[in-house]
Amino acid sequence: MSFLSTPLRQHITAISEQNDTPFFVYDLDALYAHLKPLTEQFVVKLWYAVKANPLSKVIQTLDKAGFDFDVASSGELDQVLRQGVAANRVLNTGPAKSKKQIQHFLSQGVRTFVAESLNQVAWLNQAATEHQVQLRILLRVQLRWPDGEKNPLGGDSLTPFGLGLEEWQQLRIQDYPALNFVGLHIFQWGNMLSTEKLAELWSQMITPLTNLAEQLGFTCQILDLGGGLGIPYTTDADRLAWPKLVDALATIKAAAGVEELWMELGRYAVGEIGHYVNPVVEQKLNYGEHQLIVAGGINHVLRPAVTNQAFPGELLRQSSAPSQDFLVHGPLCTALDSLGKHSLPEDINEHDWVVFSQCGAYGYTESMPFFLCHELPAEYVIEQGQVVCVRKSQNAASYLV
Ligand SMILES: Cc1ncc(COP(=O)(O)O)c(C=O)c1O
Repeated sequence: MSFLSTPLRQHITAISEQNDTPFFVYDLDALYAHLKPLTEQFVVKLWYAVKANPLSKVIQTLDKAGFDFDVASSGELDQVLRQGVAANRVLNTGPAKSKKQIQHFLSQGVRTFVAESLNQVAWLNQAATEHQVQLRILLRVQLRWPDGEKNPLGGDSLTPFGLGLEEWQQLRIQDYPALNFVGLHIFQWGNMLSTEKLAELWSQMITPLTNLAEQLGFTCQILDLGGGLGIPYTTDADRLAWPKLVDALATIKAAAGVEELWMELGRYAVGEIGHYVNPVVEQKLNYGEHQLIVAGGINHVLRPAVTNQAFPGELLRQSSAPSQDFLVHGPLCTALDSLGKHSLPEDINEHDWVVFSQCGAYGYTESMPFFLCHELPAEYVIEQGQVVCVRKSQNAASYLV
């Protein structure tokens, strides 16, 4: 099975004929077709987690499809505002909200924040008082399960995202008159491909969360379940069905008794529409293994090195040669630069390109582009059937000082 439709393969082939270095292609037509049905329901309000892919054309497509925007830095905020999105459609999550960043967000008109520490609550209140505004605040909760009970999160590792129940219980909401405490946020899972598992996980969060809101003395009007909806990285993996998910979310919303359910989607929103297209440098046989060296690696797509999960790869050219397993390596002088094991036609050679799919989320901007001074990849979009280059490839002289 291929991740490339015939027209997409034709577009990518045409682009490859004008390039000799790696490039990304984002199919905005496929993106819009995927996103539009997601917003056509009344159960969950959807935000786009901009960190997944902050490309302007991607943000514009999410905007057109009816998403609002979750940003985690001043850079992401400015990028969203530059696309003509109003600040009242922006939510700020993230563990590092400095006083300076909070000032910037308030001066730009953002009024909705997920607070992740007691300091953030105090600093948001102080800045809101100075600006003479009221802010909507959701508290981000990090849950742990008592010893001996089945832990739905599969582990109790400490993260900087939010605070535990005991820590939040110290909060006296009456001390922060510029803040309206409207809800709770929880997100401690990732790339989930089973609706049943997600529903089970979410349902176990409800009691501790509603108890916390009651103890703190506010009505939990909004429950934000973050992201974590997965996409398949292999052709045989399961796939989430949106209508089934919406049914599960409706059950959670009713059980939690909240007026609004929110999610900020990253991977599920944009992951499937990006492709990373990579020239082959050579193949070689080494200790009996077939190795394929390609021009771009974790300098452009870091994710395989941090998750140990490859993006699915296939040969761009059609070949009738039998396939064999290749270990695919990028150009960096570290063994970490592995793009995984892939079954590819045995006649693959230095005139070929490998296309890695499912690279629309956590691709280029999550990577380490300067290491070893290779070219920065070009970025192309396909919009209304037309290919447009939105960023040309740049060589190292353009960024080295
Ligand atoms: C607060 C928050 N919400 C949503 C997301 C998006 O998650 P996903 O890409 O799994 O949808 C992230 C990702 O890190 C996040 O930090």
